Amino acid sequence: MTRESDLMVRALEASAAARIDAPPNPWVGALVLDEQGTVRGLGVTRPPGGPHAEVVALHEAGDAARGGTLVVTLEPCDHHGRTPPCTEAIIAAGIGHVVVGVRDPDAQVAGRGVARLREAGVDVTEGVMADAVAEALAPYLWQRRTGRPWVVLKVAATLDGVVAAADGSSQWITGEEARADAHRLRAESQAILVGAGTVRADDPTLTARLPGRTLEPLRVVLGTAPATARVRPCWERSGPLEDILDELGGHGVLQVLVEGGPATASAFVGAGLVNRVVWYVAPALAGARNTLGALRDLSTASIDRLRRGHLIAVERLGEDLRIEMEV
Ligand SMILES: NC(=O)c1ccc[n+]([C@@H]2O[C@H](COP(=O)([O-])OP(=O)(O)OC[C@H]3O[C@@H](n4cnc5c(N)ncnc54)[C@H](OP(=O)(O)O)[C@@H]3O)[C@@H](O)[C@H]2O)c1
Repeated sequence: MTRESDLMVRALEASAAARIDAPPNPWVGALVLDEQGTVRGLGVTRPPGGPHAEVVALHEAGDAARGGTLVVTLEPCDHHGRTPPCTEAIIAAGIGHVVVGVRDPDAQVAGRGVARLREAGVDVTEGVMADAVAEALAPYLWQRRTGRPWVVLKVAATLDGVVAAADGSSQWITGEEARADAHRLRAESQAILVGAGTVRADDPTLTARLPGRTLEPLRVVLGTAPATARVRPCWERSGPLEDILDELGGHGVLQVLVEGGPATASAFVGAGLVNRVVWYVAPALAGARNTLGALRDLSTASIDRLRRGHLIAVERLGEDLRIEMEV
């Protein structure tokens, strides 16, 4: 691994700390090195309205930044949003070299940050560890490119793919560790969506219940929630799923977590709107008779029509498995 890649990995690892609180801004990590190549500043994006990662790292480095290098996962912004442009701060600090992971597809940035730095005589290296950075920032990059949130479908099922027993009960199929992981997934999402059938059957609250979490995700019900449902206040939406996603994207939702049930999950998968599946599998068997299959309303005419994806990760959580698939 080159020194630049190594530094980018450090910036990337640091950025994970901003994953929950930075949205609707991207969770960025930045390092500032002095002229001799010693790391003097580290920054991650602060919650909306606070400074961006570059500014935090530059502030920590102070005068040591002059003639130094900035390593940053995402292209610095060049526009006045809630905060002044990062390019101005970088130029003012006297940084000589900027190393960027990926360009920012946001219409207000899109290469302008890099161009502005070069115009000011700053040396810019792009595309360092670009694949790893793009994976870590996937929901943000997707939302900025398509206007729609990144859709994560979460399922908790038995080994044979069942999500509810014959009487409709489904709590709990998986163990505590899998459920804690699902709560983190909720906290990383700016919206959580379920079908009205799940609200009627389980009356979930759909909160993230994570300590330190400032903003609870927006709760979205497909169809109509009963007046006394614990999920209220919530958004109730029907109509084309594409329109609902457009609306969520327009509200700055970078990631929506679809939590089922089977009718809802089938509709999202059937429409080709799912980016990632996070599937928790419990070592338990339910059988197909009168039970609910995770994608009950979806069909596959022939094996050559299977919706195949890529395996992103497999992890053991207590007695359960967490399988992440790219669709
Ligand atoms: N283990 C798990 O991971 C898990 C997760 C969630 C749920 N569950 C279980 O799943 C069961 C409920 O699932 P379900 O399949 O009956 O219901 P569901 O998917 O939760 O909700 C279906 C309802 O959503 C509304 N809807 C509106 N637009 C829709 C669209 N485009 N596509 C689909 N639905 C739309 C309709 O409500 P209206 O009828 O009001 O129009 C429809 O009846 C429960 O037993 C629950 O315990 C298990």
